[in-house]
Amino acid sequence: MQSKDLLHLAEQFGSPLYVYDADKIKSQYNRLTKAFSKVEKLRINYAMKALSNVAILQLLKEMGSGLDTVSIQEVQLGLHAGYDPEKIFYTPNGVSLEEIEEVNAMGVQINIDNLSILEQFGAKHPNVPVCIRINPHVMAGGNTNISVGHIDSKFGISIHQLPHLVRIVENTKMNIVGIHMHTGSDILDIEVFLYAAEILFDAAKNFKNLEFLDFGSGFKVPYKKDDIETDIEELGKKLSKRFNAFCTEYGKELTLIFEPGKFLVSEAGSFLVKVNVIKQTTSTVFAGVDSGFNHLIRPMLYGSQHHIDNISNPKGKERFYSIVGYICETDTFANNRRIPEIKEGDILSFRNAGAYCYSMASNYNSRYKPAEVLWMNGQGHLIRAHETFEDLLKNQIPLPVATTV
Ligand SMILES: Cc1ncc(COP(=O)(O)O)c(C=O)c1O
Repeated sequence: MQSKDLLHLAEQFGSPLYVYDADKIKSQYNRLTKAFSKVEKLRINYAMKALSNVAILQLLKEMGSGLDTVSIQEVQLGLHAGYDPEKIFYTPNGVSLEEIEEVNAMGVQINIDNLSILEQFGAKHPNVPVCIRINPHVMAGGNTNISVGHIDSKFGISIHQLPHLVRIVENTKMNIVGIHMHTGSDILDIEVFLYAAEILFDAAKNFKNLEFLDFGSGFKVPYKKDDIETDIEELGKKLSKRFNAFCTEYGKELTLIFEPGKFLVSEAGSFLVKVNVIKQTTSTVFAGVDSGFNHLIRPMLYGSQHHIDNISNPKGKERFYSIVGYICETDTFANNRRIPEIKEGDILSFRNAGAYCYSMASNYNSRYKPAEVLWMNGQGHLIRAHETFEDLLKNQIPLPVATTV
């Protein structure tokens, strides 16, 4: 999709606006399946926390994807979007036994990540097929908040607790059908991934009824020109070979599962904002836009550098700008960035706005969340309306008039 299409959508639907390109999502999905085409049984479970709009879920379902979910509400959204329960995986962290049991009753694959719940669940439901999340203790991920496989992480069952884990499984006679890991997002080096995979293979040998191995995700996508990305094709070659050899050793054709979020939707997304004001201070030229970290928190939360295009003036002379939002605290999208000359009223487009952008949006400062549009077959389809004042009031219960005096 081209800049002129984005500009047209900003005129048609207003700003701020999230736009997702269906073709890009499709091409990423196909790229991943092609890279692992040597694996007989491959399954992609889209990690819907990245972008959970029902239309996006439907699109991925049509491509053959399953779903990776982390809450009962995500499971409900997946079912609402038309997924069969057996196409949904549930990998929660720190949730109650009751929620896990409720999701299990929906026919969804449960993935358990701590020994306490495993023991309780196993004692009550020994026949339910369960997956176990292992923490391989590998430092991977582009930022401490998204590095989840290391020794101090709250995620997964420590690989050092494997003997204890095996004892629980033997005592409860649980049916362990899968082993899972997810070490972090934005993994730069595939050797780290392959190293963690070896730990998973080793752990898997302790379980006789496996049907699948789930390697999680964490594939890094490029955020700017010449940025590093995970070499999916190389990973595909190396891991497929190792996985197939493991299956031969194990004596069964297992399913290889990935659960990518960012890889599938990050680059498909653009976030369009309008420049409200240009403010020159002694040292900086600020471009203040009609949005803030309530809509796109990644730069403030993770220090992410989203490339920003001035789609109203793409050929303009480049100047330095700090792009800031309208939230009443420091709210910086970009610091002293070279961007084609910006005027008030111009539309800026943030790239890589598909993953962990809208799904992390809030109403902070009582601002509305923006609309979302899916660009498909050369047309923009509104897939979520812009919020209104009614949305802000929804679920609020004012005090009766008499008690406020
Ligand atoms: C368990 C699990 N699987 C998959 C993902 C998706 O990761 P990514 O968006 O890096 O592909 C996450 C992200 O946090 C996760 O926690």
